[in-house]
Amino acid sequence: MSVVVLIGAQWGDEGKGKITDFLARQADIVVRYQGGNNAGHTVVVGEEEYRLHLIPSGILYPEKMCLIGNGVVIDPAVLVAELEYLQKKGIATDNLRISPRAHLIMPYHKKLDEVQEEKKGQNKIGTTRRGIGPAYMDKAARTGIRVVDLLDRDEFARKLENNLEDVNFLLKRVYEVDGFDFEEVFNEYMRYAEILRPYVADTSVILHEALEAEKKILFEGAQGTLLDLDHGTYPYVTSSHPTAGAACIGAGIGPTEIDKAVGVIKAYTTRVGEGPFPTELKDEIGQHLREMGREYGTTTGRPRRCGWFDGVAARYAARINGLDSFALTKLDVLTGVETIKICVGYRFQGEVLREFPASLKVLTQCEPIYEELPGWAEDISGARDFSDLPQAAQNYVRRIEEITGTRVSLIGVGTRRSQTIVREEIF
Ligand code: GDP
Ligand code: IMO
Ligand code: MG
Repeated sequence: MSVVVLIGAQWGDEGKGKITDFLARQADIVVRYQGGNNAGHTVVVGEEEYRLHLIPSGILYPEKMCLIGNGVVIDPAVLVAELEYLQKKGIATDNLRISPRAHLIMPYHKKLDEVQEEKKGQNKIGTTRRGIGPAYMDKAARTGIRVVDLLDRDEFARKLENNLEDVNFLLKRVYEVDGFDFEEVFNEYMRYAEILRPYVADTSVILHEALEAEKKILFEGAQGTLLDLDHGTYPYVTSSHPTAGAACIGAGIGPTEIDKAVGVIKAYTTRVGEGPFPTELKDEIGQHLREMGREYGTTTGRPRRCGWFDGVAARYAARINGLDSFALTKLDVLTGVETIKICVGYRFQGEVLREFPASLKVLTQCEPIYEELPGWAEDISGARDFSDLPQAAQNYVRRIEEITGTRVSLIGVGTRRSQTIVREEIF
């Protein structure tokens, strides 16, 4: 296998950073293809913890090429800060390449994200307020500014001037907040342009050359399937496509090039932000999972909502992404939970639903149907082989495979690279 897409199979924060870092060892190129710095991917190497938002998690290996594809929205202020953060930690960044076709997050996108969320009040989406939605809106409206424009002073000035005319009107008249000054934004972005210029290259061409040379390519998804603009719990979603299919559009390769799709999934479920979450636990078990799993956002620090493993949602994610297998993370967090529940269906007005519903009204009213499995008390953080796991933990994994119809190829039992059980090689 040479081209693998790794995606989040729940509502994000499944541990994509850790699994990407684990698999990057065998890859030549690691690629981000959608989302922006709404993502927060944590990677632990030795005693050091790295938090990445835009740069692929493969960057921690000096010899791997890392690409930010055209489908990503880039906040240059964040990218420049992330480059500095890595360089300070002694991580080389010269193998990073950025697509000239990627769109930029502008200061007004962040402002709009903020004021639009505030205006929604009770109905807010709970965005990360990083300007993601407004940046993708401009992209779709054909008023976006791209990396290629950033490198062209005149073009950038022209587009910025045009956009500010509209956006300042909107900010001042509709939202009654201050607008943005052309000179200030222009000068700030021209500074970023000079720092980022050496990194810009046609990432699709790099990928095609790598494909010809039969190099191993790993796509690192951000967010998760249930946050997908089309397949997620709309409107409580992000504005990009975190699903596997988006790797083609977001990086500029054809669907026939992809060999495998792997879904990262937690042994329980979390969600950050608003929106329906059928298996959410608002009791002390939810609190226990949050503390044991250190479930606080990497990007915003918000406490994550926690709940049981949702087999209906997982089966849906397997279908939408054409998953070959799951990488099941954080199994160690369930240690000590006496009885573990798995949701195997939803009850809606006396009817049993086996498929994830499209209607949020329906989803909000769904009662999970649970199956109970005995837990285990043994510390599993040192397990390196499936057979090292206690019988109850093995049964839990097998039951997830049966319910979802999808194999579990990797199992995470801790934050470190070494704390990963391989049942089946990915590359
Ligand atoms: P991502 O956004 O999908 O990359 O996930 P985050 O990095 O936002 O959140 C996952 C968190 O779980 C990080 O703090 C990881 O270090 C941690 N993590 C990943 N896999 C495991 C695991 O198997 N066990 C434990 N205990 N923690 C893990
Ligand atoms: P990683 O890659 C979890 C959520 C936000 C909000 C919704 C829309 O670390 O898994 P946005 O700012 O994208 O417009 O917010 O999506 N969200 C995430 N939740 N993990 C993420 O990324 C997320 N990125 C966005 O909380 O509910
Ligand atoms: Mg995260």
